[in-house]
Amino acid sequence: MKKVLFVFGTRPEAIKMAPLVYTFLKDDAFEVRLCVSAQHRQMLDQTLEFFSLTPDYDLDIMQANQDLFDITSRILLGLREILREYKPDMIFVHGDTTTALSASLAGFYERIPIAHIEAGLRTRHLYSPFPEEANRQMIDVLAQYYFAPTKTSADNLSLEGKNQANISISGNTVIDALFLALELIEKNPNLKAKIKQDLSLHYPLNDKRKFILVTGHRRENFGEGFVNICKAIRQIASENPKIDIVYPVHLNPNVQGVVKSSLAGVSNIFLIPPLNYEHFVYLMSCSHLIMTDSGGIQEEAPSLGKPVLLMRDNTERPEALEAGVVKLVGTNVERIVRETQSLLDNPAHYEAMSKAINPYGDSKSCQKILNFIKQRNQR
Ligand code: UD1
Ligand code: UDP
Repeated sequence: MKKVLFVFGTRPEAIKMAPLVYTFLKDDAFEVRLCVSAQHRQMLDQTLEFFSLTPDYDLDIMQANQDLFDITSRILLGLREILREYKPDMIFVHGDTTTALSASLAGFYERIPIAHIEAGLRTRHLYSPFPEEANRQMIDVLAQYYFAPTKTSADNLSLEGKNQANISISGNTVIDALFLALELIEKNPNLKAKIKQDLSLHYPLNDKRKFILVTGHRRENFGEGFVNICKAIRQIASENPKIDIVYPVHLNPNVQGVVKSSLAGVSNIFLIPPLNYEHFVYLMSCSHLIMTDSGGIQEEAPSLGKPVLLMRDNTERPEALEAGVVKLVGTNVERIVRETQSLLDNPAHYEAMSKAINPYGDSKSCQKILNFIKQRNQR
């Protein structure tokens, strides 16, 4: 039996890795253990609870307003004993977080092969997104197996000279997670009723009022970027009194501070706590459009036919831009307001961006990843 260790620590990694952990758990060829860094605490636990996952190891590293030195060093030291004691044959990491980089480095130091899920995404701007672009490039230097969600990301890896035989185009596991959540909600009327009831504590969902869903948290937007995003949201709310804006605010204090001081007290802006995955998926499915800087939401929203305005200067996910369902609007107040207003006022423009197509996956990614690993290990 192959011993595999999954390591993750933040909300998006948990959402994207949970269905993969299950796929490996169901296969007798693997002994599976899960280590969480808890780079996020509450937002990770919300997701673990939804997927009913209990970690074998919990490094519990989160500190208020932690910096990159804290996260990196605490995970490296925490993983040393676990790797030496469990001696996995392979470590699975995901994406571009500092947990993923630190776990890759720890695996490399112990000469354990790394399988990188969501490999090959690139902006080629080392400081944007920060530190994620550099994290991703460094992980791909250390990794042995590359699971690229799309051909574009696989091509990025080929251009960097990675061994072609170790690259798999497998789609993004976030689509597996999304469809799992949607199916659970659809199949279970009690769950749907509970979600609606829970949401009503924060925002009264109402068929007669449209709402814009907002999220934002990126480090490179801290400071002027976030101030601009908040100004734009305030202006949109004031110029469109019939539209609501619902913003589940990320727990990062750098986000909470500026969002609450700029946007609290406006009658059609609802600042609400981060939501459990199933609640958030349901809220996305009810929204009119989405304004975000999130990676995962750019990938999920096209499956739901929801237009996305991406409040960043560049993206490592060009596929949805090319498909015309996501638009890059930066962090300039005037541009964010103009693009949002155009979607609100111009039905043809809205229609064109609401296509339910998804370049990121078909919800079969986890099985493809498992099959690839099994084939490679049979050789
Ligand atoms: C991290 C990732 C980012 C990812 C994002 C997803 C890095 C460097 N950044 O950024 O790539 O897109 O997660 O959300 O890996 N906090 C809590 N409770 C939580 C989570 C966060 O209180 O459950 C607060 C803490 O004060 C913490 C701070 O937020 O110190 C920042 O968390 P951190 O993981 O360092 O950064 P994120 O902005 O969340
Ligand atoms: N999400 C969630 N609750 C929320 C906001 C987002 O479950 O209140 C989900 C969302 O559906 C997506 C992921 O969290 O799958 C995105 O996480 P985040 O924006 O924190 O990180 P990023 O995707 O930018 O790395």
